[in-house]
Amino acid sequence: MTKPRLSVIGTGYLGVTQAACMADLGFDVVAVDVNAEKIDRLAGGSLPFFEPGLAELVGKSLDSGRLRFTTSYDDIADSDVHFICVGTPQQRDSNAADLSYVDSSLDSLLPRLRNPCVVVGKSTVPVGTAERVAARITAEAPAGADVELVWNPEFLREGWAIEDTLRPDRLVFGVTSSRGEQCMRSVFEPLIDAGVPVVITDLATAQLVKVAANAFLATKISFINAMAEVCEVVHGDVKKLSEALSYDSRIGGRFLHAGLGFGGGCLPKDIRAFMARADELGVDQALSFLGEVDAINQRRRARMVDLALESLDGNFRDCRVGVFGASFKPNSDDIRDSPALDVASRIHDAGAEVIVYDPAALDNARRMYPALDYADSAVGAAHDADVLLHLTEWREFRDMDPAVLDDVVRRKNIVDGRNALDPERWRSAGWHYRALGRP
Ligand code: UDX
Repeated sequence: MTKPRLSVIGTGYLGVTQAACMADLGFDVVAVDVNAEKIDRLAGGSLPFFEPGLAELVGKSLDSGRLRFTTSYDDIADSDVHFICVGTPQQRDSNAADLSYVDSSLDSLLPRLRNPCVVVGKSTVPVGTAERVAARITAEAPAGADVELVWNPEFLREGWAIEDTLRPDRLVFGVTSSRGEQCMRSVFEPLIDAGVPVVITDLATAQLVKVAANAFLATKISFINAMAEVCEVVHGDVKKLSEALSYDSRIGGRFLHAGLGFGGGCLPKDIRAFMARADELGVDQALSFLGEVDAINQRRRARMVDLALESLDGNFRDCRVGVFGASFKPNSDDIRDSPALDVASRIHDAGAEVIVYDPAALDNARRMYPALDYADSAVGAAHDADVLLHLTEWREFRDMDPAVLDDVVRRKNIVDGRNALDPERWRSAGWHYRALGRP
């Protein structure tokens, strides 16, 4: 059987990873995006974002001729399978997801579909979107009856995008017929043969799996951060608490690291969009706990600002604050809803001089937070600092020898917002070390 020809619509994290991984599996892939500058860059083998290993994989697939980038939907009209990988950001004036990119990609794709094909939704969407997409296909595609819709949510984490795509924990196919299921089984055959579990379900459940997974992960993080709040009052140690909980195999230790909480382009917006959708569906009570999950997450940022202030005897004026970390998590240059930059700018607004260093996200941070000051090294950010804030747990910071900062800082104060530094190491080097949720 000849391999189906694939198209990928949207060249963000999800789309580029999907396109490069599928080309690596031996498929011919054409990736389309309306942003010509992005397409030019990608066609030249360079990525508009940082993701370990992905530039190499894109380069390899371009060289083999199995991957092409284009701005023209005409180039994908004859593909057998179309993956919709466009972004669904939070709306500017509400918590709901903005589906305009999904709709505009369908505006361009559907009128061009003349052959039987399968449209696969991968973007994270409010439940009910797939059913609306199916109705649009029936109404607008010239080959309407022969165009099948499948929902196949993606669970990739930034920093692990290739691994999560080629060796996912599970594959979920929301289908309306055996044709859709067979198509997905043939596209994902190498992964299925390697033992990846497959869940076949309906469209509604497939859409829900994604938001339910992100809601659960956010809840797990906020649960341990709520325990950190309690620890702070009773002088307990949330890190020990989390370790003890993690040995219970029913609980497990992953996503149980207490600290500054979650940020990024997914968890915060996905739980808010899920609540907004539940509201529309009249089941808002079922998800009201997610409002608390969000509130706990926000309170950690405020608590971090308080700890910094306490280290400075209650006054930010005339103080220099060195910030280690700008990205929303290590091994990423993504600063979307970054807890680190949120805290840094709150402290700047409160009157301190704030100098930020990050190993990968400085360019993005400079662009989005021009009022902050930046340094090109950790030592530079620590120069004359009255307090250092460790806000993104890059290995570089975890491995740092406190002695290198001895003659650099003005006062030896450090607040560990990620519970990732070794308190003994810093204290024995003469530092006043504080952390979230620890004595
Ligand atoms: C997440 C989901 O993990 C992924 O499955 C989904 O497809 C997209 O959203 P991502 O946003 O890349 O992925 O980041 P992730 O690694 O999940 O971390 C999210 C945030 O939670 C980060 O800010 C991280 O610092 C924080 N986090 C994570 C914690 O505060 N504690 C933890 O124990 C784990």
